[in-house]
Amino acid sequence: MNERTQGRTLTLEEKRTLYRDGYIILKKAVSPELVQAALDRIKSAKKGEFLGGTTEMTNLVNQSDITPVLHEAMGYFDPPVASQVGVRKVSEPGDYFNNVGYRDKHMPYYGAESHVDGSMTIMVPQEVQEGSEQEIYDRYIATGPKGDLGRSPDVMGHNFVPMFEDPEMSLGLGSFTAFVFVCLNDQTREGCGQTALLPGAHHAVEKFFRQQRDTNGCVGVEGPGWPRLDHQAENRCGLVYLPEEVREQFIDETSESTPDGRKWPRPTQILMEPGDACITVYQIPHSGTRNQHGTESRKTIIFRIRNKARQPDVMVNGVSDHPDRGQMGEWLEFEDGNNPWEKSKDAMCNMWDEWEGMTDVVKEMQVGKTA
Ligand SMILES: [Fe+2]
Repeated sequence: MNERTQGRTLTLEEKRTLYRDGYIILKKAVSPELVQAALDRIKSAKKGEFLGGTTEMTNLVNQSDITPVLHEAMGYFDPPVASQVGVRKVSEPGDYFNNVGYRDKHMPYYGAESHVDGSMTIMVPQEVQEGSEQEIYDRYIATGPKGDLGRSPDVMGHNFVPMFEDPEMSLGLGSFTAFVFVCLNDQTREGCGQTALLPGAHHAVEKFFRQQRDTNGCVGVEGPGWPRLDHQAENRCGLVYLPEEVREQFIDETSESTPDGRKWPRPTQILMEPGDACITVYQIPHSGTRNQHGTESRKTIIFRIRNKARQPDVMVNGVSDHPDRGQMGEWLEFEDGNNPWEKSKDAMCNMWDEWEGMTDVVKEMQVGKTA
């Protein structure tokens, strides 16, 4: 770490922005040398080589301003040993059905599929589905990488996320504390494949989680108000990536529609330069977008960070969105009295509890003071 980066922390104004919008962009959080090393590593990769665990990628957090910023604002976390290498080639709108069950070319906002992270995604069918809703559901959950297990917490998605986190099937989402998106190429114009976010929607998501928990203790997908599948979608088997109650709060007269007349919340494309980073709270709805106007592939390295206090004995690798299960859904051991699912629900319903350096700002913002 060089002199300049040592001990960088968020200003009070930046913390207010993080509270209000659910994200903050840190200009020049990563040095040009670290950015270049990551780009060189991507360039020299063999076809199909997994780069997420290389030090060139993990250094983007471990050797940059991002670590001191998060230590101060959030708390201690395991230094990432893995990451998601988010490369998106230049492409035209496609005919295929996307995860929410619409043809990619029909989706507004460069194909954004805004979602809360941590939900199981089995590839959606590419033919319009027939039969009853139950038949479509049963067929869908039987097509994951582990085959037909029925409705079970052992079902995994093609994104290696379990259908439910817990044996009781009361937690339908994995969770963590913070996203970090590190930008490696010029993403200062919209439509270049960047990450898109729904600013402010983290508050609505947290409130929704609380309502779910208060209703019957089930949180996330398949909890109250959040069916897994959308049978009104074009293929009759799209994923409900955002519960309707949250979705409708972000629709207005400027919202664009799919051909069936349904309106979609307009996300904000986060515009960044190489070396910039975006930090968000876990709860923020987000999506990658189509790289339609870029002149090169979009390159963003994505980290999922969890405050170490949630489970001090669990190693979080920096890429998993469900660290209390193995990457392939394996069951981990927890000592008596340590219920990881209830702890996760607590964190999902009280997002600032895991942001230790935000306490004063949260207090100030919640009483509406701006002094
Ligand atoms: Fe995601």
